[in-house]
Amino acid sequence: MAARTLVTMALPYANGSLHLGHLVEAVQTDVYVRALRAAGEEVAFICADDTHGTPIEVNAARAGIPPEQFVARFHAEHSANYRAFEVLHDIFYTTHSPENEEHAVRIFRALDADGAVERRPVEQLYCEIDKRFLPDRFVKGECPKCGAKDQYGDACEVCGSTYEPTDLRNPYCALCKEAGRGEVPPVRRTSMHYFVRLSKYQDFLRGWTSAPGHLQPEVKRSIDGWLSEPLKDWDISRDAPYFGFRIPGETEKYFYVWLDAPIGYLSSTDRWCKDRGDNLDRWWGKDADTDIVHFIGKDIVYFHTLFWPAMLHASGWKVPAHVHVHGMLTVDAAKMSKTRGNFFTVDDYLAAGLDPEWLRYYYASNLGPTPSDIDLSLLEMKNRVNGELLNNVGNLANRALSIVWKSFEGKLGKLAASPEELWQISAIERKVAGHYRAIDTRAAVQEVLALGSLANARLQEKQPWKLLKTDRAAAHAELTLAVNVARVCARLLAPVVPRFAKGVEEQTGAPLRSGDSGWLEETQIREPKPLVRRVEDEDLEKLSGKFVGRTADAPSKEPAKGAAPAKESATATAPAPAAGSSEISIDEFGKMDLRAGKVLACERIPKSDKLLKLTIDLGEGAPRTVVSGVAQAYAPEELVGKTVAVVANLPKKPLRGVESHGMVLFATGGKRGLIAVEIGEDVPPGAKVK
Ligand code: MSP
Ligand code: ZN
Repeated sequence: MAARTLVTMALPYANGSLHLGHLVEAVQTDVYVRALRAAGEEVAFICADDTHGTPIEVNAARAGIPPEQFVARFHAEHSANYRAFEVLHDIFYTTHSPENEEHAVRIFRALDADGAVERRPVEQLYCEIDKRFLPDRFVKGECPKCGAKDQYGDACEVCGSTYEPTDLRNPYCALCKEAGRGEVPPVRRTSMHYFVRLSKYQDFLRGWTSAPGHLQPEVKRSIDGWLSEPLKDWDISRDAPYFGFRIPGETEKYFYVWLDAPIGYLSSTDRWCKDRGDNLDRWWGKDADTDIVHFIGKDIVYFHTLFWPAMLHASGWKVPAHVHVHGMLTVDAAKMSKTRGNFFTVDDYLAAGLDPEWLRYYYASNLGPTPSDIDLSLLEMKNRVNGELLNNVGNLANRALSIVWKSFEGKLGKLAASPEELWQISAIERKVAGHYRAIDTRAAVQEVLALGSLANARLQEKQPWKLLKTDRAAAHAELTLAVNVARVCARLLAPVVPRFAKGVEEQTGAPLRSGDSGWLEETQIREPKPLVRRVEDEDLEKLSGKFVGRTADAPSKEPAKGAAPAKESATATAPAPAAGSSEISIDEFGKMDLRAGKVLACERIPKSDKLLKLTIDLGEGAPRTVVSGVAQAYAPEELVGKTVAVVANLPKKPLRGVESHGMVLFATGGKRGLIAVEIGEDVPPGAKVK
């Protein structure tokens, strides 16, 4: 283990607002940093906005402002968002900085001196009206494989094949199309580009990726595939107009954003060191006693595990000790999208009045050490926060403190615990610290909850509220133990829910400390108050209600895809599902669990003229509640007794305070407008429909 740890999270693009997906990474990284600090380690937590590239340059031009001003707006918004979620970087800098230009040029020169840089001509599509080369997301045309129209220059969303922009048939400039100039065909034009010969570092990269601890096994496996063939040369230059750093000796050529973006980790550290009178070499020098740990999502693995270590290696800086990859956030098991109504920005979450600690708790209690995707279900967030954080640890603290406050004048007594019991608690503390270090926050949270449950069970068994009438001292000692265990739990959860932990600290009247000095006996507490607000259905509706009434067909506010591509990436983008009434595979159809359901009861939902609440027997033992927006087509009693087709494997969803689980199918049209899809009555409830 090194003397200190430098931790980074990926630099978000200064091209749009942060969304709840960005927070997965921010929370995971922040929890890691806090846990290391709690263990007494020296840690630097570094981040910045990623400000360069064609999309930002184009969007700034559209907004009619200089790119510097455009990215400054998002920098302010991003900083405020992170602060609201208690994601506290030591520095949140920018890649458009003098330090970053200096380091980018130095690293480029080091690569060049190493003989790794090569210049050669490249033919690309060029729009003569916009006077620019068109990156893959700025050119559209017919897929060279399947002929589908209006596909981007990198991949076809219909057949999934990937290709070069120059392979498109009948290509047109997406910028011209957007500006109402029609389908202007680009021309082919050649320009000189700079390439890094990555294969030169292939042996180094084989070694680095294989070293113990550097990568999660799942990530290592995918990289082995890339490394089994000679790595492709990497094009690190872009032609003007571009927002970025000019390549030395050139007037019209810039470094590609992905060259200077990771260098932003180094240059932001440099800035931070200068601000505090520290020394960059102490953190990044080849021989520094530092572990460098990068947190990233699985879409940017190539950049961080191949390009970046090679750049550091070639220029004589320290290479990362660990690149940690997390999965992508889905919402209610679907990819986030505005048309689907499940895309939430951080500002949406805050504006709906939801507590940031709820989401921190939800993410941390769901995130394991592997790069698997994580799903956000607002209902599950509610259940977990209320059922675990509040009912378990929160309740333990609140119950014990309230009785101490009322019946013992707010003074703690002696601890009702044997030395062995205290020793067991310290063993749990060590286990939790180990889970945090292994970036397994889910296991850490589970361990704390188990301790909280034990203490709650003991309180329930000893019943100090009764005991105090017969044996006051014993009751006092039990309560004192409960308060102290609540403090241990709060301290262990502090990396996840720092405000909650602060509340326990304040109410118990002494800092949360580890070891013997953390135990409180015969000290004064403060007046107990609820530690965190309960999640109510209304909270969830305030957030999800943002999209009520908007359907997949309704015009969305999502920017046209070609307009503001989020990413200018070198890796192939995964094909998105085709829109409209396109074909699905038999496997996709097979995922739908359609069942016969018998409607046992049906009633209107108060204050709603659209919604009915149906109680449906799906042969599962207990009937389900399903909410349907058909009150204008059916009176409640008309549906009772019918056997209808139900989609049974949809996630639960709160609607007007009712938890709906499943969907009843209705055909559209006819006199009523909607007709229930009925099933012959001798089919038993729960029968599969296929
Ligand atoms: N600017 C680059 C990173 C440069 S790092 C030198 C970038 N920016 S990003 O804003 O698109 O993404 C920033 C981070 O957020 C990435 O690690 C990305 O994986 C993560 N996420 C973006 N959307 C996400 C989800 N929906 N879910 C989880 N993480 C996601 O890439
Ligand atoms: Zn054009």
